[in-house]
Parts: sequence; structure tokens; C-alpha cells
Amino acid sequence: MKPVRHLLEVDDLNSGELGQVLELSAYPALSRALEGQGMALLFEKPSARTRHSMEMAVVQLGGHPVSIAGAEVGIDERESAEDITRTLACYHAAIGARVFDHAVVERMAAVSPVPVVNMLSDQAHPLQAMADILTVKQAFGEISGCRIAYVGDPNNVSRSLGIAAGLAGAEFVIASPAGYRFDEADLNRIANSGAAAQVVDDPVRAVDGAHVVYTDVWVSMGQEAEASEKMDAFSDRYTVDEQLMGRAAPDAIFLHCLPARPGLEVTPEVLYGPQSRIWQQAENRMHAARGLLAFLLGAP
Ligand code: CP
Ligand code: NVA
Repeated sequence: MKPVRHLLEVDDLNSGELGQVLELSAYPALSRALEGQGMALLFEKPSARTRHSMEMAVVQLGGHPVSIAGAEVGIDERESAEDITRTLACYHAAIGARVFDHAVVERMAAVSPVPVVNMLSDQAHPLQAMADILTVKQAFGEISGCRIAYVGDPNNVSRSLGIAAGLAGAEFVIASPAGYRFDEADLNRIANSGAAAQVVDDPVRAVDGAHVVYTDVWVSMGQEAEASEKMDAFSDRYTVDEQLMGRAAPDAIFLHCLPARPGLEVTPEVLYGPQSRIWQQAENRMHAARGLLAFLLGAP
């Protein structure tokens, strides 16, 4: 029997496997990896893109998605995360989980006889990063050699983006204020893949010559108590506006995982402007999810 593969962070795949997932993402109907089977999608936090892209990816692979709110099963209250996982695996060929605490999805994967996919935790958002890299590939043909600049909060999205960029051979540079520095261990994790990664505090320095300018909200789900402190730290220099975009390469694209707070981390002119690829990026969530599931479930 083949060992069960889980996807809790992008580097659960090696660089060749990430390439295979991106290849599979390009083909809408080649695989029926979930024919006649189910996938449980467990959400402790709200979602628009992740729930819909995952449900439709499962349908496209011939399967049946069952979305569940965290409160419905009561993770570690009504029942332990481990027993919920063992139960869901009785009915489903794969399990997706969006959790507050990354340790919960790790505990699920540790006992699961079927693949567990992290649909966002406080530490990682690998499905997003795969769609992001796919969007960069569509824009430039090659990911290798691209400079990807992330401006703003070092969070789940930036960590997975940096790791995915490293695996795909892109340069990653992240600008954030003092007190909100990208973790040194994460930087080393990216550097391990051989790609260049850099932390700066000046957004202009990060964006200089970049092919991709990326940002995300300053206050992630679960961080609401820190909102005013974070607004103070980010709001003077870390908004992506047209002037900052002007420092990027002339053909640079703007990306945002969404949902956005227009006027805070990005101006409406950039978010909805000619360089923005946010809707293509959102659509790519579905293609990347389908590619990943086909890969994990051993398709075609
Ligand atoms: N980008 C993303 O994960 O969006 P949702 O939170 O709406 O799923
Ligand atoms: N960093 C954001 C991403 C939402 C898709 C959050 O965790 O809320």
C-alpha cells in the first residue's frame, strides 16, 4: 500500500511534485480521482474562496464534498480532533480542515488513514500559495527567475507563498515593520530550497524591479484583539498604492489572496487596477485544488 500523503504546508511536496501539481491543475477533466467518493471539508473559520473552490474541485474529480462548520462537530469539545478525523475517514477519501491552531491539523494528519489537506491555519495557507504560483506561471510563462515581493504582515499567506516561491525557484522578498519580522526559521526554510529570500523593512526596496507585488490583510482571522496595534504598525508605509507599484517591473502583476480591506493594505486603484490579477488568482484556487487532489489521490 502506498503511504498516505498529507499537505499541511507547501513543502510537504518537493519541487518536482509541486511542478506536477501545477501541470495537473491545467487539465480540467483528465482525472476522476474521487469518482463515487466523498471529501469532508471542515471549517473552524469563515471562507468564500476555499470552500467553493474545494467543493467544485471535488465535483470535477467525480466526488461529493461535504462541508462542515467547526461548531457542528465541536473540535476538542464535543469530540477530540483525532476521533473526528477517524470518523470522517470512515466515509471520505480525503479530509480538508481550516483551523485556528496549526497543531490541530497536525494532530488530524497524525491519525488519518486518508490525506489531510490544510485549508488554512494560523501558520500556513498552502492551497492559496499553489494558486498564487499558478497565477505567476500563467502571467510570465516561467516562475523561476521571477522576483516576488510581499508587502505587509508576515502571516500564514506570506509564509506559504515564500515556501512555494522557493520551491518553484523564484526570488522572495518581504517588507514589514519592526516588531513584525518574517521569522528567521521560515527564511531558512525557503533558503533550503536554494532560492533567494530576503527580509527588509522598506517596501520600496522590496518592490524594486519585482515581477509580482503581493499583500494580504494586516489583521488575520483570530488576531482581532491585536487589530489596533497592528493598524498603527502598518498604516504609515505598508499600503500598496500606485506609487509603490510604479517601482516594480513595468509588466508587474498585483496579487492578493482576498478578502481585501481596500484603503488599508492596498488602495482600490491597485486592487481593481490594470495590473491586478486577483480574479484570475481566485479562479486558480479551484484549478490548483483539483491538481493537488488528483496528485494526492494518485490520479489519473
Ligand atoms: N483566500 C481565501 O482563502 O479566501 P477565503 O477565506 O474566502 O476562503
Ligand atoms: N491571512 C488571512 C488570509 C485569509 C484568506 C487570514 O488568515 O485571515
